[in-house]
Amino acid sequence: MGDKFKDKVVIVTGGSRGLGRAISVGFAREGAQVVVASRKIAACQEVVALIEKAGGIGMAHAAHMGEVADLDALIAAAYERFGRVDVLVNNAGINVALGPLSEITTTAFDKMVDVNLKGAWYLASRLAPRMGEHGGGCVINMLSVAALCTPAYSGIYAATKAALKALTEVMAQEWAPWNIRVNALAPGSYHSDLTDGAIAALPHYGEGMVTAALIPRIAETEEILNPVFYLASEAFTTGITLVADGGLMAKR
Ligand SMILES: NC(=O)c1ccc[n+]([C@@H]2O[C@H](COP(=O)([O-])OP(=O)(O)OC[C@H]3O[C@@H](n4cnc5c(N)ncnc54)[C@H](OP(=O)(O)O)[C@@H]3O)[C@@H](O)[C@H]2O)c1
Repeated sequence: MGDKFKDKVVIVTGGSRGLGRAISVGFAREGAQVVVASRKIAACQEVVALIEKAGGIGMAHAAHMGEVADLDALIAAAYERFGRVDVLVNNAGINVALGPLSEITTTAFDKMVDVNLKGAWYLASRLAPRMGEHGGGCVINMLSVAALCTPAYSGIYAATKAALKALTEVMAQEWAPWNIRVNALAPGSYHSDLTDGAIAALPHYGEGMVTAALIPRIAETEEILNPVFYLASEAFTTGITLVADGGLMAKR
């Protein structure tokens, strides 16, 4: 166990699987008290069990990012248990709108906006004033390099992430007076259910991911942890998008 984030309280949305799971376990390993949130409570409890087995402190909470009442309840539960929240990692994200724009349904569009954009905005914006009351904190919004390179056939995903990038910059400006730093992280491809599902849906997708980057492979979630830790540290950094893409943007 380390102590980089000793006694900090961290909420990780989408904390039950993929990158969110690595982030939850990683923060706990560094001494943080972690609220693991996603829709499925059993999956969150599994991560908390892992955390507790390693001697850490965690709490599982079920919340759908598209349901604002769930997000209010998530904030209330975190404050009830820990009395403060220092770091929000707005990590939950979906891509249920893969394919040509002309074929995307309005149902898929609305779901993407609800989970990737509205939920992230709502949770951060209701939490921020409370963070401000106890001296500040930090928010990390999970984007994707798709927000920067806007690839074909992933347009709605790219649009929701690009919009979240814009909101990150506005949040940073509006909440700096409350001592809240707000940054975004734009990972390239790493192995997760989301990536592996996309590869299965679009046969050449995985091959393209590998050849697109200077480091020609799909990363593991653990390789995205240090960038998250940097943004959660007391660094003199706010309003930026940190890219962790194996050189994908540099190769373009
Ligand atoms: N995978 C990549 O290569 C990649 C690259 C760049 C950026 N990203 C971004 O990184 C983040 C994490 O992606 P990932 O690939 O690690 O995801 P993942 O493995 O697909 O896991 C998604 C997580 O989000 C939760 N989730 C899904 N829908 C939700 C909803 N409506 N409300 C609340 N929680 C929900 C899931 O748990 P439940 O099912 O229990 O809700 C799960 O914990 C996303 O924002 C994604 O866009 C991923």
